[in-house]
Amino acid sequence: TSPHSDAFVFFGATGDLAYKQVFPALQAMIKRGHFDMPVIGVARSKWTDDQLRDRARDSLEKHGGVDADAFKKLSARLQYISGDYQDDATYQQLHNALGQAQRPLHYLAIPPSMFKAVTKGLAKSGCAKNARVVVEKPFGRDLASAQSLNRTLHESFPEEAIFRIDHYLGKEAVENLLYFRFANTFLEPVWCRQHVASVQITMAEQFGVQGRGAFYEEVGAIRDVVQNHMLQVMALLTMEAPKNSDPDSIPDAKLQVLNAMRPLLPTEVVRGQFQGYREEDGVAHDSQVETFAALRLHIDNVRWKGVPIYIRAGKEMPVTCTEVLVELKPPTPPVFDADDGAASNYFRFRLSPDVLITVGARVKTPGKSMTGTDTELIAHHHPDDEMTPYERLLGDALAGNSALFTRGDTVEAAWRVVEPILGNAVPIIEYQPGAWGPVETARVIAGADRWHDPKPE
Ligand code: BG6
Repeated sequence: TSPHSDAFVFFGATGDLAYKQVFPALQAMIKRGHFDMPVIGVARSKWTDDQLRDRARDSLEKHGGVDADAFKKLSARLQYISGDYQDDATYQQLHNALGQAQRPLHYLAIPPSMFKAVTKGLAKSGCAKNARVVVEKPFGRDLASAQSLNRTLHESFPEEAIFRIDHYLGKEAVENLLYFRFANTFLEPVWCRQHVASVQITMAEQFGVQGRGAFYEEVGAIRDVVQNHMLQVMALLTMEAPKNSDPDSIPDAKLQVLNAMRPLLPTEVVRGQFQGYREEDGVAHDSQVETFAALRLHIDNVRWKGVPIYIRAGKEMPVTCTEVLVELKPPTPPVFDADDGAASNYFRFRLSPDVLITVGARVKTPGKSMTGTDTELIAHHHPDDEMTPYERLLGDALAGNSALFTRGDTVEAAWRVVEPILGNAVPIIEYQPGAWGPVETARVIAGADRWHDPKPE
């Protein structure tokens, strides 16, 4: 196992991401007794240590509350460095502040346009030595820009020191998906084209772009959640078993299946935009950006060839819920229920808002005839996640555990899949807020399959 980091540095200390995610994660780690090291915030504003402490307190009040004891420890550890990211003096100050620390972790809670300046500054000043770096999406906006970002990072850090956060992978439910798949013997024999009829995932959000119109205009649903969250979950669901407990085993297995995914065909994709999106602040009156996407994906390998994989993600949906459904083929030839047994067996994984794993089955209806009804066995139901994805992922990064991070080559492989449908290759279709996207979405589903609409309790 790799050595634990011994200092936590975060760039963009005065910014939004630090406010929403970093302070709450730090307090939670301290509370659990997992964290005791210097915490150094860096940003341009001319703040003092005390101003950063006030900001931290304010952040915690808004996100789960201040824990007096943990906050005291955090405050005592917190330092602030004010400096320009282009200026060597900033990194010199950081170097001094790091003092005895040998293996700092640098969290870049800043826009990717600044990654180059900061990683270079870190390398030049010696602050990158034995260090780890954590970065946040977006990892490029297409394959070429993702490759260029990876090159920039690699100029200052080796791949094993780079931790790319996809917060979806830090969700309890997503970890459980991985666990449930490989900790049980009954899944493996049916997890293949002989038995699986189709796989689908729906990521539905009942809200719109929440004032982030200008940001959303630059991304759209495909770049915002499909290229990363949805394809990463799909990769975990469809990959081969990791070879061993080596940290590269999971990314290796993911890379293999991502490489087997056929680049998407515009004819197998529907892009939707909710009515009213164009009136949002920061959105063009003739915007062609999608707030919804539905697509059919193919995996050309021995395990999955011929099994349709459906992905659907959107804003202004009827509910807020993310669910994966793995539908099995009905028994052939049918012994019972030849007519009414159309509902096949399935596995259902709810990833959000709660954690749920169920198995769909048929049971006999009491009475004389051998006919049945559908039932659902609840394998696991967990109301909420006690650890936020950020707490989990930052803890992992500090410990050097990269299993739940996205490796550079898997990011590029995922871009390769979505590249043909970026931009306006697929026309945009309007949908009513509160609908499951445009009616044309039905066309993405072929044959006997249908979209399964999650119904959170
Ligand atoms: C983010 C996207 O990555 O994930 C948002 O930028 C989306 O648009 C969010 O709402 C969903 O994450 P969660 O954890 O709130 O389901």
